[in-house]
Amino acid sequence: MIGIFDSGVGGISVWKELYGLMPNQDFVYVADSAHCPYGRKRADEIVERAKKISEFLINKNADIIVVACNTATAAAIKYLRSHFSVPFVGMEPAIKPAAIESESGIVGVLATAGTFKGELYLNTLTKFAANVKVIEQTGDGLVELVENGKTYGHEVELLLQKYINPVIDAGADKLVLGCTHYPFLIDAINKIANDALTVINPAPAVALQAQKIIDENKIKSSKNSGTNIFISTANTATMKMLVRNIKPDMEEQNFAVMNI
Ligand code: DGL
Repeated sequence: MIGIFDSGVGGISVWKELYGLMPNQDFVYVADSAHCPYGRKRADEIVERAKKISEFLINKNADIIVVACNTATAAAIKYLRSHFSVPFVGMEPAIKPAAIESESGIVGVLATAGTFKGELYLNTLTKFAANVKVIEQTGDGLVELVENGKTYGHEVELLLQKYINPVIDAGADKLVLGCTHYPFLIDAINKIANDALTVINPAPAVALQAQKIIDENKIKSSKNSGTNIFISTANTATMKMLVRNIKPDMEEQNFAVMNI
């Protein structure tokens, strides 16, 4: 079984890619929406939540855990890897492809404050951004909009304009999505960017990396077709909407609220 968790519903953008690659695997997804957003929490609070949810997933027989949250990866993946024996796959800020493909030599990154503070992000900058200028933009309030099921419309566009226009004005031609909630805003982002920016979503690359580890560890579903369980620590309304936009026939019984 593949365990996935995020501070909320954002990691469904990663589940989408994992499920697309491995539809016969079993997935249990935990949205920690009761404690969302993680972006403004202290690192030790995020580690505490990541530990609790990982314990829960391991008790449900997870063979591997995908930390489908950039902020939780930044704060907790080192601890999780040292504390548990299952493999963990985290979110990588996709600076490398953006830097390689950028023609202007200027790359924007949209992420939470917690992700920008993480060691992983700083290491990625040192490794891959030596020859480009990076414009860091925190996306305060975007996670909350997606959690409330708002992925398009006036309110979304107004906030996105505030974050994206300065990145365009600075001359960036690539925008790295450094938060798993943001791919759900991709249509609104593209509408505002209007061809000035190519948006880079790291989820497909992370899913490929997870598939590689799954193959190496020979993790196989016991049945012919996989099961998908979606658990929220708050409520399932937005989760159902986003999952059913991807897989319309996902049944009621696949969703649950739990206090983890
Ligand atoms: N999906 C999370 C991420 O990738 C959102 C963080 C938050 O809850 O602030 O960073």
